[in-house]
Amino acid sequence: MELMPNLMLFLFLFLFLFLSIVSTFSAESDYVRPQPRQTLHFPRNPKSSSQPRQVHISLAGDKHMRITWITNDHSAPSFVEYGTLPGNYTSVSQGESTSYTYILYKSGKIHHTVIGPLEAGTVYYYRCGGEGSEFQLKTPPSQLPITFSVAGDLGQTGWTKSTLDHIDLCKYDVLLLPGDLSYADYLQHRWDTFGELVEPLASTRPWMVTQGNHEKESIILFKSPFDSYDARWKMPFEESGSSSNLYYSFEVAGTHVIMLGSYTDYDESSDQYAWLKADLAKVNKERTPWLVVLFHVPWYNSNKAHQGEGASMMAAMEPLLYAAGADIIISGHVHAYERSKRVYAGKSDPCGAVHITIGDGGNREGLAHKYIAQPEWSVFREASFGHGELKIVNSSNAFWSWHRNDDDEPVKSDQVWITSLAASGCAAEKNHQLKKFT
Ligand SMILES: *[C@@H]1O[C@H](CO)[C@@H](O)[C@H](O)[C@H]1NC(C)=O
Ligand SMILES: *[C@@H]1O[C@H](CO)[C@@H](O)[C@H](O)[C@H]1NC(C)=O
Ligand SMILES: [Fe+2]
Repeated sequence: MELMPNLMLFLFLFLFLFLSIVSTFSAESDYVRPQPRQTLHFPRNPKSSSQPRQVHISLAGDKHMRITWITNDHSAPSFVEYGTLPGNYTSVSQGESTSYTYILYKSGKIHHTVIGPLEAGTVYYYRCGGEGSEFQLKTPPSQLPITFSVAGDLGQTGWTKSTLDHIDLCKYDVLLLPGDLSYADYLQHRWDTFGELVEPLASTRPWMVTQGNHEKESIILFKSPFDSYDARWKMPFEESGSSSNLYYSFEVAGTHVIMLGSYTDYDESSDQYAWLKADLAKVNKERTPWLVVLFHVPWYNSNKAHQGEGASMMAAMEPLLYAAGADIIISGHVHAYERSKRVYAGKSDPCGAVHITIGDGGNREGLAHKYIAQPEWSVFREASFGHGELKIVNSSNAFWSWHRNDDDEPVKSDQVWITSLAASGCAAEKNHQLKKFT
């Protein structure tokens, strides 16, 4: 008699399992787009207080790399030991550090240490502050080809993890992020969990980022908008003659990359505009035939989300970028993917830029599904999570692909060969145009 309830329970469980397996398989034939995923939960970090955490690296001028990490211990030193053999550190660099408070939150000690000169295309082993694990990084090549991985509006959800896993499968040299990193949104500990989440990738390849609206954390009279972002994600603005971490440039293997700020002044009388003009005047298309520009709010967007939001920045800066021969312009903000033809002033133009919106890294706000009628310049658009890869093959050809995360497989969903303006003759024609601005 006593066995009966157990037997019933067993049969019930068996039936339940059977039905759920059957329903999983039958769902495949009628594919349903995956749901948004929850924000990840992070266990408390067991590492001791002087252990380096949240390690990430970024390019810092010719042949140099900036190593950034955080320690809970505010007396921990800021030096980095490094070399080309594991455990055998032949060089050491001293760095600087900062920290900040935000209402009741007090950040750890944020260390920034520039190492170099480094050989191109070389693996270096390094250790931060004489403590903790050894990390390794690979410097980018000195010449083309080079591969950039691109992801925007990352956040820290299950979809972010999926995007990062797919990026990890790609052999890339430098990651480009057009804004909206952690989605901390005033809750400072989320910056720390984001730092932990990206460390496995961001400690091995340079992550070059610019700001989005979710980095804006101002408190009237107390905090200017990007204090936390600037403290944690210091980019090579000084190295590129800029006075603000919100816009800067760098050169790597035949490519001049410009990071602009959608959330700082951009009109013709602004510092950013003056800096951009000066930076573009330095571009030498013989040395860097490719000109790539990133910022957060897209100028060419046929999604209903954030429709027209980039218009005033576009009015101010598009003529300048057009005259300079910008090849590819990448933005985020809209949680979907879109690629344009070469465009200028709202119309197809063979000497304009290819615009790519890629704000679909996996943030907690979900996807932007609603579109306006597809404009003539829009080639491909889709609301799915994913990342992009830009392989610049040589001075004339680059291969762009977008990889959707669906089914947890890195599906290559959109791809195109792009010819540089340097090779198509547009750049030579434009030589005179840029002079008009100076
Ligand atoms: C460390 O590297 C240097 C230079 O490459 C070499 O001379 C030295 O023998 C190495 N030391 C060890 C312990 O491997
Ligand atoms: C550049 O690469 C493309 C694609 O591999 C190739 O067809 C082309 O001939 C190359 N051009 C030059 C100038 O090397
Ligand atoms: Fe955004």
